[in-house]
Amino acid sequence: MATLTAEQLNKKMRERYPGEHYLSILQYLHFIFRPARYLEVGIESGDSLALALPETYAIGVDPKPCITHSLQAWTKIYCMTSKEFFSKYVGEHFDFIFIDGLHQYDAVVEDFIESEKLCKRSSMIAIHDTIPLSAETSGEYTEGYWTGDVWKIVPALLHARPDLNIITLPCQPSGLTLIMDFGYAYGLSKEIIEEYRKKDFDWVDQDWKGILNVIPNDRSLWVPLIHDLSSLIKAT
Ligand SMILES: C[S@@+](CC[C@H](N)C(=O)[O-])C[C@H]1O[C@@H](n2cnc3c(N)ncnc32)[C@H](O)[C@@H]1O
Repeated sequence: MATLTAEQLNKKMRERYPGEHYLSILQYLHFIFRPARYLEVGIESGDSLALALPETYAIGVDPKPCITHSLQAWTKIYCMTSKEFFSKYVGEHFDFIFIDGLHQYDAVVEDFIESEKLCKRSSMIAIHDTIPLSAETSGEYTEGYWTGDVWKIVPALLHARPDLNIITLPCQPSGLTLIMDFGYAYGLSKEIIEEYRKKDFDWVDQDWKGILNVIPNDRSLWVPLIHDLSSLIKAT
């Protein structure tokens, strides 16, 4: 595939990720879901961690955090990789987990599998960077806009875990996948992990909306697909 110019990339970004920004969607989820316990993998400057509400107990994990935002929630930061964190953490389950750490398929698979162990039936996991834009920005690490091959976990889960409710929102700047209905099965087999590791950008690009189960980025369309949220909204 030919390398896209900056102008072509920007045009493709506007087309591929219309509507609400991922931070606005996360803010809405915190507001309506009101998680008692929130875990974020990959916190950087705290843009998304700062959305956790004052009533929430939050944990942020990052080997190199550089928090510049004031945090509303009572927050504990673990300065370490998610692998180290999950190997040490002993504690209660989380209601909401946001995975936004190392943007590599194997790392995100591990983050998901470990996160799932810390979920209750009613928990939600959100994974960032799940809609790739181009072969270059979803391949080997590059400076600047880079989403890696995080996206591969979505078709792997859609294939192997029909027990889960999985939707992907085409939000700026790189898509967000929401995963719900835990507790009926667990994890991913080595065969499935291997099968989707081999997939490439051209494969997903020819039918990215179907392969990633993309729902239009419009709250009136995706909120009803989240049972707990729909009932919460009806009750308020
Ligand atoms: C895209 S940033 C996170 C942005 C943040 N969640 C937000 O939305 O504002 C990714 C972060 O993941 C961190 N990271 C890299 N490798 C990691 C790992 N193995 N475990 C946890 N975090 C990691 C990086 O240090 C970086 O701060």
